[in-house]
Amino acid sequence: MQYSILFYIGSLLISIITACWIYKWFYPKCDGILPPGSMGLPLLGETLQFLSSSTSFDIHPFVKKRMQRYGSVFKTNLVGSRIIVSADGDLNNYIFKQEGDLFRSWYPASFTEVFGRQNIGTLHGFMYKYLKNMVMNLLGPEGLRKMLPDVENVSRNNLERWARNGTIEARESIAKMIFELTAKKLISCDSEERREDLRENFSAFIKGLISFPANIPGTAYNKCMKGRKNVVAMLKDMLRERRQNPRNEKVDFFDYVLEELQQEGSILTEEIALDLMVTLLFASFETTSLALTIAIKFLVDHPPVLKELIEEHKAIIRRRDTSDSYITWDEYKSMKFTFQVINETVRLANIAPGIFRKATKDIKFNEYTIPSGWGVMVCLPAVHLNHDIYENPLKFNPWRWEGIDTNVGSRNFMAFGGGMRLCVGAEFAKMQMAVFLHCLVTKYKWKSIEGGDIVRNPGLQYPHGYYIKIDRKSETMSYTRQR
Ligand code: HEM
Ligand SMILES: *[C@@H]1O[C@H](CO)[C@@H](O)[C@H](O)[C@H]1NC(C)=O
Ligand SMILES: *[C@@H]1O[C@H](CO)[C@@H](O)[C@H](O)[C@H]1NC(C)=O
Ligand SMILES: *[C@@H]1O[C@H](CO)[C@@H](O)[C@H](O)[C@H]1NC(C)=O
Ligand SMILES: *[C@@H]1O[C@H](CO)[C@@H](O)[C@H](O)[C@H]1NC(C)=O
Repeated sequence: MQYSILFYIGSLLISIITACWIYKWFYPKCDGILPPGSMGLPLLGETLQFLSSSTSFDIHPFVKKRMQRYGSVFKTNLVGSRIIVSADGDLNNYIFKQEGDLFRSWYPASFTEVFGRQNIGTLHGFMYKYLKNMVMNLLGPEGLRKMLPDVENVSRNNLERWARNGTIEARESIAKMIFELTAKKLISCDSEERREDLRENFSAFIKGLISFPANIPGTAYNKCMKGRKNVVAMLKDMLRERRQNPRNEKVDFFDYVLEELQQEGSILTEEIALDLMVTLLFASFETTSLALTIAIKFLVDHPPVLKELIEEHKAIIRRRDTSDSYITWDEYKSMKFTFQVINETVRLANIAPGIFRKATKDIKFNEYTIPSGWGVMVCLPAVHLNHDIYENPLKFNPWRWEGIDTNVGSRNFMAFGGGMRLCVGAEFAKMQMAVFLHCLVTKYKWKSIEGGDIVRNPGLQYPHGYYIKIDRKSETMSYTRQR
């Protein structure tokens, strides 16, 4: 008798707690008015809709539908985090301007665990600036100027190999090439075997990046964490090797890290340095290669663009004394149309579908309040595919960048982020793309064989790969300057 009373009281209590919890799930506390939107199912939120596949370059249906229903700012819950999604230009701008103050860099729990707690993405203030300076030593204008010939060499060598091979799968081959470049430049990893190990481990962990942070064997999240562990172990080995064979000249990131670690009173620890390496490699791992793969597809699909691109690069070669010499810095800087093609490619590709921040205080925006502690996702495709900003936004049209007002540029173009946390690799990425395109269009012709269709979920994928056939042009020699 007594037991059943206890049982009733117990289940009543549990029901009340659950009911309160569910009520709070659907009606989160807020000192003001929350933006409209749905918190989705308890626990799951709207994660499944967010991760659903779409086969178009257009704004992902998850966002598009909600924009139509709720407007350009709405609330939701993704992988266990409460999030305000912003597709609003003013709010986006405000978020970037208030970086570090009202908003700070933040990624869902699965991201933070994966990148280490002290990576550049979640660091604030002083430490952040200090690490960023270290990266800029390598990827600033001086660093880039020095690596220009190497970038060209890697492009040339890979293209030559592909042309000999007949048909290649572009997505994978380009990813391999870009990783070769990055690994060479950031960590002087010249061994192909080692690079491939590193790349495989990276792939393993990238797949589980946006997942529920449940560390149970077999889950995507668990594989992701294992992948990270392997990557860190490999990097640690390399750092140790370098410590044993130090160099006089600082060439790669390890050299800068080692110098810092040896300095007395340095705030850098090996752990922070390794987290930073993982972040850097990750940030460059898929981004540039995805953009380049799409660029190639766009060029095949838009012959007039390819024609003008070829003209620009032929002209560069015609102005040279020796047609086969390496690209000079001035030549690189003169590739105006190429940069328009690159801008247009990254605008449409929307490689980063969102940028995450966390509100550090209650923030008023129009009539709404973003509660302190909530996540904020700046939805980049909503900016890049807004037809008030870009006429006929789904069309690949590099000429639209002609004479664009760069003052409003940053507001309307956020492919590399914005504000203080602008992508530190943006110039590096553009250089890799421009140099590769130069080598490709001057010496080779190519055609699509199969695949090339995209899926967004919401990251960009090529479910069937992209097969192309590359051949050396026979007319290459005719570009030689007539004397
Ligand atoms: C087409 C290629 C690329 C795209 C579209 C891209 C995009 C972005 C975006 C949108 C951000 C901002 C993230 C945020 O605000 O939270 C970012 C940050 C960053 N990117 Fe890139 N990126 C590219 C290539 C690279 C490369 C090649 C590197 C390094 C070698 C790199 C390193 C970084 C780093 C370290 C950050 C963090 C900067 C910070 O938090 O201050 N990125 N990138
Ligand atoms: C380019 O690559 C070739 C062969 O891989 C090598 O012999 C040459 O030294 C490299 N040149 C530069 C500038 O890196
Ligand atoms: C070259 O061709 C072979 C067989 O046709 C293929 O297995 C290999 O992946 C190709 N290499 C590249 C770089 O695509
Ligand atoms: C990952 O890294 C480990 C070394 O840490 C290596 O043995 C392994 O082959 C790498 N690749 C994969 C796919 O695990
Ligand atoms: C590419 O976009 C950026 C940002 O809007 C702009 O500053 C730059 O001038 C553009 N480049 C070209 C070649 O139009």
